[in-house]
Amino acid sequence: MRSDRERARQHLVPHFTRGEAWKADDLVVIDRGEGCYVWDTDGNEYLDALAGLICINLGYGRSDLTAAATKQMDKLAFYSNWGFAHPSSIEAASMIAAVAPGDLDRVFFVNSGSEAVESALKFARCYHLANGDNQRHKVIARDLAYHGTTLGALALTGLPNLRDPFRPMLTDCVRHVPNTFGEHLEPGQAARDLPSVTAVEEAIVAEGPETVAMVIAEPVQNGRGALVPPEGYWQELRRICDAYGVLLCADEVINSFGRVGHWFGSERVGADPDLITFAKGVTSGYAPLGGLIARDSHVELIWDSPMSLFLHGSTFGGHPLSTAVALANITALRDENVLAGVLRHEGQLDGGLRDLMAAHPCVKDVRGTGYFYAVELMRDRDSGTDLTEAEFASLMYDEVLDQFVREARVLVRPDARGAAMLMISPPLVADAEVINEMLRRLDQVLDRFGGWLKAAK
Ligand SMILES: Cc1ncc(COP(=O)(O)O)c(C=O)c1O
Repeated sequence: MRSDRERARQHLVPHFTRGEAWKADDLVVIDRGEGCYVWDTDGNEYLDALAGLICINLGYGRSDLTAAATKQMDKLAFYSNWGFAHPSSIEAASMIAAVAPGDLDRVFFVNSGSEAVESALKFARCYHLANGDNQRHKVIARDLAYHGTTLGALALTGLPNLRDPFRPMLTDCVRHVPNTFGEHLEPGQAARDLPSVTAVEEAIVAEGPETVAMVIAEPVQNGRGALVPPEGYWQELRRICDAYGVLLCADEVINSFGRVGHWFGSERVGADPDLITFAKGVTSGYAPLGGLIARDSHVELIWDSPMSLFLHGSTFGGHPLSTAVALANITALRDENVLAGVLRHEGQLDGGLRDLMAAHPCVKDVRGTGYFYAVELMRDRDSGTDLTEAEFASLMYDEVLDQFVREARVLVRPDARGAAMLMISPPLVADAEVINEMLRRLDQVLDRFGGWLKAAK
């Protein structure tokens, strides 16, 4: 019998993984999970400080979610939302509308974050067509933001290494502007003067406002490391979009369902978007589901227009299984006060990461909020020395940092998007004990990294 690793090599094509790493003898095969921990097929235990892929908000092994799935599969395994409704998607949509901000009350289901972003693109276009604004098709997105991999979402993604190989196949209707990295409001400075704000308005004016359909941004941006915007940033995006008749979309594929301590990141940063995209945490990763939330009036406008429908759909969007799991997940997040737990413990996480920074001169910065953090690395903070290109490459591309992370049995993500970083986003049920254990293991990763830097001198 061939081993799991051998069969993975031969038959399973990985996502965003270099062939060399996939073929390595130490490829980790994760076998089971319980709470905030997972085990590989060799019996090693890991603390999952990345919540799977920033999705397993309730942690592993929730029998209430699996029971909801089984019950739904027994009752109605499939029906679509294409001309029909079914109770599971109706209830999930109603519950999401109940926790969504303001009049964002209409939910369109798909199966992933990328599809949610595709839906936002098409919804914005349909909305403007319904308004008779036939020219509006361009989108303003931000540098280094990840919005997904399908061709529309990829065109919005501001990561050249992911986008450029496919450039000839991508729409040319996207303009990228600077994100909020490094920005802080100085005393007396107004948010409207921030370079990240003026860049949005300048891009709209340069493109011709009558051609711009949508501005898209994450409330707290993942790419470049958990960028919390300066106070007033989102209010300025709202002002600009209103001034030029542009829709504002908050991509909350990561931020929503408690990641930053609220149902939606928009609440945390004071955003008032027209559209919200979600996925990941809506089911705590127990089933694939994504979606778009839109304003009542905007959906009605499309239905009342000559087009008369939102011209978009898919077979599995709003699948009974996934929506039943979403319902059980949101119920548990609500009834177990999980979001309040994040707000209660976020100070411990933030403080613990800052203590690690103080103890390790190889940490350049700690950024984030809620249970969504980035630790940026460098050679030596005291002398202000960054990593050389060669050091960066071996650390991030030759799997050196991955190795340290695995050895310490803490699953955080080494992230090379714009700097050497560790992305940290534990399950939302991580309590004081789990956070302390996570910090202890991260200390070990930073010790190993510090030792490696010394040896590489
Ligand atoms: C902000 C954001 N948008 C979209 C996506 C794409 O989601 P998916 O991987 O489910 O297609 C992601 C994935 O991480 C994301 O972080």
